[in-house]
Amino acid sequence: MTSPSTTISLVDTDPAELAVDAIVIGLHSQTGEPDVAGPAGALLLASGAESIAAAFDGKLTETLALLGATGAPGEVIKLATLGTVTAPIVAAVGLGAEPTGAAPAPETLRRAAGSVVRALAGARRVALTLPLPDDADAPAALRAVAEGALLGSYRFAGYKTRPQPARREPVAEVLIAVPEAGDAAARAEVDRAQAVTGAVRLSRDWVNTAPNMLRPPAFADVVAEAARAAGLGVEVLDEEALAAGGYGGIIAVGQGSEAPPRLVKLTYTPEGGGTGKRVALVGKGITFDTGGISIKPAQGMWEMKSDMGGAAAVGAAMLAIAALKPAVAVTGYLPMAENMPSGTSYRPGDVITMYNGKKVEVLNTDAEGRMVLGDALARACEDGADYLFETSTLTGGQVISLGKRIAGVMGSPELCERVRVAGDAVGEPAWPMPLPDDVRKGMDSDVADISQVNAGMDRAGHMLQGGVFLREFVTDEVAWAHIDIAGPSYHSGEPTGYWTKGGTGVPVRTLIHLVEDVATNG
Ligand code: BES
Ligand code: MN
Ligand code: ZN
Repeated sequence: MTSPSTTISLVDTDPAELAVDAIVIGLHSQTGEPDVAGPAGALLLASGAESIAAAFDGKLTETLALLGATGAPGEVIKLATLGTVTAPIVAAVGLGAEPTGAAPAPETLRRAAGSVVRALAGARRVALTLPLPDDADAPAALRAVAEGALLGSYRFAGYKTRPQPARREPVAEVLIAVPEAGDAAARAEVDRAQAVTGAVRLSRDWVNTAPNMLRPPAFADVVAEAARAAGLGVEVLDEEALAAGGYGGIIAVGQGSEAPPRLVKLTYTPEGGGTGKRVALVGKGITFDTGGISIKPAQGMWEMKSDMGGAAAVGAAMLAIAALKPAVAVTGYLPMAENMPSGTSYRPGDVITMYNGKKVEVLNTDAEGRMVLGDALARACEDGADYLFETSTLTGGQVISLGKRIAGVMGSPELCERVRVAGDAVGEPAWPMPLPDDVRKGMDSDVADISQVNAGMDRAGHMLQGGVFLREFVTDEVAWAHIDIAGPSYHSGEPTGYWTKGGTGVPVRTLIHLVEDVATNG
C-alpha cells in the first residue's frame, strides 16, 4: 500500500559538480513584503546558490527573470544548464521576500522543498542547496527541508490496473547541501525526519485507501499488525467485547453496518519508566460516514472516507513514538465504526448509555464522531492520563469558522495553548476556541443527561457544540484538548507545497511534537 519513500543524504561538496539530475536553488523576491511577488528583475538568489551563480557568469538572476521567475512561494522555474554545471537542470524555487537578517522560516523551507520535489517528479536524483542558517536554528531548518522533500514526494499507489507510462515517478533520492555532511547531529535530524514523515505518509495512505477496503475490522487489523511490529502493546476490542464492556456510543454508531466496530488500544512504555507522566491520544476512526439515518447529500460524500483521519493520525503517531522513544508513557485509543443507514442503525430519538454511564439523547445520527469519542475518552480517563489529546474530523463548523488550514482546539486552556504552540512549531496551525456555557445550555435534553447536539438543531456554535459534548466524558483531573481537523486533515484541491491531494497527515507531526514536549518539559 505504502509508496516507496525517498531517501535523503547530506552533501558538502561543490553543488556545481554534483552528478544529479537537477540542482535546486532558492530564489527570493525583493518587494519588502513577504509572500508577494516583486516586479520582474527584483530577484535575489538565496544563499547556497553561490557556486551555481558563479558558473553562470553572473547571468543566472537575469536568465531566471527572463523565464518569468518572481521568487513567489511555491514557484518553480527550470532551466537547462547546457554544461555550465554538472547537473543538466537547475530548478529555482521561490522563497518569497528575504526575511531581514535571518534565514527563511522553517515552514517556508518545508513548503519550498515540497513544491520543488513535486515539480521535479521524473528525475531520480536531486540536490537541494537551500539557504540554511548556521546558528541554533540550523537543526530545525534542516529538519524542515528533509520533511518537505519527503512529504512532497508522497504519492498514493492507487488502484490502476494498467501501468501508467506517462506518469512521472516521484524523486527517489534527495541530496541536501549542508556545511558538514559528516556531522552526526545533522544526520540525526534527517533520521528523525524519516521517522516522522514515515508516519505522516502512512496516515495519508490510510486516509486515501478506498473505504470498502478499510472497514473497521480491516483497519483494526492493519493498525494492530503495524503496532506489534513496532513493539507497541496492542489490545483490540471487537463488537462482543465492546457490547459486554458497555461502550454504548461505539456500539450505537457501528450497529448499522455489517462491518462491526472496534476499539484499538496501543501502548508505548518508555524504557526505565520515563518521567512518570502519562499521555493519552484519542482519534476518531469512522471508516466511512454516510450520516446514517440522518443521511448526508450525495455530493462530496466520497470524501467521508477521510472520517478516520484522527485515528489514522493517532495510529501513525504511535508508530513514530515507538521509533523515537521519548521518555514518557503514551497510550493511543482508536474507536472505529462505519456509520451506515440500515434496519439495524441507531436512530434520532434513541437514548444511549455511554461507557461512563451518562445517557445521551441522539438527535442526528450524523453527529456520530462524538458518540464513539465519548466512550474512548471515558476509557482513556479510566486508564489514567495526565494529558489527553483527542483529534477528530468532527464538524463542518470547524471549516466554516477557521478554514481548511487551521484546526480548532478546545479543552483545558493551558493545554489548548500548548497545542497552538506545537502546531505553530511544526507547520500545522491550530487555534484555541472557547467552550461557552450557553452552548452547553442549548444541549440540555428533556429526557437524558445531554443531547448530542443543540436541542433545536440550531447550528450556532457548531464546532463548539462538539467540544462541549466531549467535555462530558473527560474527568476533572485530566488536562485535555480536542483538536477538530475536519478541514486540514484532507486536501481536495491541487497539490501545494508538501501537501499532496487527499489525506494531509495533519496532525501527526503536532502529536509527536506534543509527546516529545511532555517528555522534555513535563
Ligand atoms: N464527519 C463529519 C464532519 C466533517 C464535515 C468532516 C466535513 C470533514 C468535512 C461529522 O461526522 C458530521 O457529520 N458532522 C455534522 C454534525 C451535525 C450533524 C451536528 C456536521 O458537521 O454537519
Ligand atoms: Mn457525521
Ligand atoms: Zn463524521
